[in-house]
Amino acid sequence: MNSGNTARGSFGSQLGVILASAGSAVGLGNIWRFPTEVGKGGGAAFILIYLGFIFLFAMPVMISEFVIGRSARSNAIGAFQKLAPKKLWIVAGMMGVLGGFLVLSFYSVVAGWTLHYTVQSALGKLQSQGETDFGAVFNAFASDPWQPILYLAVFLLLTHLVVSRGIQHGIERYSKLMMPMLLAIIVLLVAFSLTMTGAAEGLRFLLRPDLSKVTPEVVLGAMGQAFFSLSVGLGCLVTYASYFNNETRLVSSAMNVCIIDTMVAVLSGFIIFPTVFSVGIAPDAGPGLVFITLPNVFLLSFSEMPVLGYAFSLLFYVLLLLAALTSSISMHEICTAFISEHFNKSRRRAAAIVTLVCLVLGSFCSLSFGPWQEVTFFGRGFFDLFDYTVTKFLMPLGGLLITLFVGWYLDRKLVEQQLTNDGSIPVRTMRPLLFLIRWVAPIGILVIFLNELFPLFL
Ligand code: PFF
Repeated sequence: MNSGNTARGSFGSQLGVILASAGSAVGLGNIWRFPTEVGKGGGAAFILIYLGFIFLFAMPVMISEFVIGRSARSNAIGAFQKLAPKKLWIVAGMMGVLGGFLVLSFYSVVAGWTLHYTVQSALGKLQSQGETDFGAVFNAFASDPWQPILYLAVFLLLTHLVVSRGIQHGIERYSKLMMPMLLAIIVLLVAFSLTMTGAAEGLRFLLRPDLSKVTPEVVLGAMGQAFFSLSVGLGCLVTYASYFNNETRLVSSAMNVCIIDTMVAVLSGFIIFPTVFSVGIAPDAGPGLVFITLPNVFLLSFSEMPVLGYAFSLLFYVLLLLAALTSSISMHEICTAFISEHFNKSRRRAAAIVTLVCLVLGSFCSLSFGPWQEVTFFGRGFFDLFDYTVTKFLMPLGGLLITLFVGWYLDRKLVEQQLTNDGSIPVRTMRPLLFLIRWVAPIGILVIFLNELFPLFL
């Protein structure tokens, strides 16, 4: 097996590998997007479909990304160049790097809002607004031309600082610091919210499958959510796996990441739905859920206990911020690794280029909520356009190419060597796993993707 190039940097421990990869997976997708989709998709009905997609489609893509990354030890584009020189497979890597830029740009807008709400909450402003209409407050903030861009810039700068320090001293070190904090806050908030009046009704909503809400669109949404949540399809995990060492167990690491990510998503539901039901607000309030509904809930349900309300809301936004940061560093790394290796630039330089490009693109996305509302392409503003291109197009297509590449193009021996660490660990699930990678994931993704392009298909 390739012994790894230490000049590129590598993760120092198995814990570092899992926490960094889980850090990439656990993000706004789990705490902001998942509960919204569950609300729209019929509670547990959506969760069951989602779980199917995680284990049948997204996990095989994750393992395939690990195989590509560790065997090539290169960035997302370089890896395809190395493993399939002069072949068209490189397109998969190019889509990934493009996707990395787009996803970091729109993601940082929401992360910037989160930073603003964290600051507001720390200053006690969220809790002391009296009968304020939180919808109007949020819309006024998001549509302001400058403020959200300022927060976006600060958030990108934080991401930049971590990435420019490298793998062990940056990404691994901060993942090891932030992930345990994040998990501790989740446990605390779940305990908090389960004690609220109305919690039982919220849990019933979350756990009772309402099949009448399951439409083809909900099924598509569940696949998009599974890919987004596990960060697969853009070569993010190809890039991280290029820093794994030869002892890292690819299959069990992927299983751990999938389990942690799914647990955090479901636990976020345990935080949000009991809280929301405690004041009788509709659960499918859309993406405004965490910026409009929740501040309302914090205000109403803690009016008798302001200190508790303060702690709850601050912890919640800190949680969201930590989750956003551990994910944004992984998106940044897809682009930084490529620029640094392809154009032979130092990590700091490459990181600075990525940060600047995303600051510009992110500002476009932010402005699409305000002064540039009318600027649309195919009927979508920048934010929606980037979101749509990444989640509905680049991720599924990337996932399809990645599983086909590992399942059909790469030498079977090389794949098995990677999965078993050169034969030193038995992988009892090898045959079903290869079956998922070769058949189930690509066919499933293709069917759903075609239906996206030609809606009458399903
Ligand atoms: N998985 C992250 C989340 O759930 O928020 C989002 C993400 C990270 C998407 C990294 C893509 C990526 F490359």
